[in-house]
Amino acid sequence: MKKYNILLIAGDGIGAEVTEGGRRVLERIAQKYNYDFVFDEALMGHCAIEKVGVPLPDETLEKAKNSDAILFGAIGHPMYDQNPALKVRPEQGLLKIRKELGLYSNIRPIRLFDSLLQASSIKPEILQGADILFFRELTGGIYFGKPSGRSDDGETAFDTMMYAKYEIRRIAHQAFSAAQKRKKILHSIDKANVLASSRLWRETVNEIGKEYPEVQIHHIFVDAAAMLLIKNPRMFDVILTENLFGDILTDEASQIAGSMGMLASASVGDKTGIYEPIHGSAPDIAGKGIANPLASILSAALLLDIALGLKMEGQEVTEAVEKTLEQGWRTVDIADLQTPKEQILGTKAMIDKVLANL
Ligand code: IPM
Ligand code: MG
Repeated sequence: MKKYNILLIAGDGIGAEVTEGGRRVLERIAQKYNYDFVFDEALMGHCAIEKVGVPLPDETLEKAKNSDAILFGAIGHPMYDQNPALKVRPEQGLLKIRKELGLYSNIRPIRLFDSLLQASSIKPEILQGADILFFRELTGGIYFGKPSGRSDDGETAFDTMMYAKYEIRRIAHQAFSAAQKRKKILHSIDKANVLASSRLWRETVNEIGKEYPEVQIHHIFVDAAAMLLIKNPRMFDVILTENLFGDILTDEASQIAGSMGMLASASVGDKTGIYEPIHGSAPDIAGKGIANPLASILSAALLLDIALGLKMEGQEVTEAVEKTLEQGWRTVDIADLQTPKEQILGTKAMIDKVLANL
């Protein structure tokens, strides 16, 4: 029996509720195909600060390095948003683990399930058939550039958007090889009319592009891209972009899929990968049992496929989600005016429906 060590990091807010979905789906797959998935748990984020004073305890990092894959929930707490002066912050844990594991490539598939056409705020005729694969650079750019901080008098603050060529090259290779297997179109998004780091980005993407002569490259400025995503999402297939632009554009693009609660992601690179919903800790609904677990379940599907090489099993999980949606089951974030009340489920009930279809 093949054994895999899977680390669960539920994190903060709705993290625990939704990660339950990912975990139960993985358990079902293990049972069905006779795999030995060994689960362990670890702390990260606000919960870790409360317990041990740091957002990423050494023990968590150690466990992460020794696992085959990590399923992560969410991070953040309103306490820090209300008090920007706090120096120790939950998000530092997530950034540190990404950096320590060398997870430079954040893959975010934007897929609209047909039955959710009405759930989006965008017109169905604009949306139908949209299918975008984002490659967001994850360990560089303004998130990590030095210097960053405050002047001595506290009157000025600064961050540095910085890229080295090697950082651009490695994520570009990933995006180009995905484009090569898909529609052979790649949109690279930058702000090269203003930023030096974006001009290096564009230059390097063009260089790497020469190794993929079949792939058409289009460069778009990030402001225009933000508009075009909503105007004509179908014009995109593979999108390659840097860290901060990717963070912003994928939240925007989640509306193409109907809700933030639908979007899964894979953060991959040198070591163990992290599989995580793109949504945050959603403190406003945490503990209410109404969060959408599908992003975590779809993250588990990516984990099966990418981390464990269980492609067919990952596909089965995605199909179970699709079937559940076709049956009309919704969490409140993806319900529309036509959805009957009885079909709107809480987190646990939604997980049960997906499991029943698996
Ligand atoms: C994401 C999140 C994180 C990010 C936060 C929680 C640090 O928004 O994964 O998109 O900005 O990368
Ligand atoms: Mg984000």
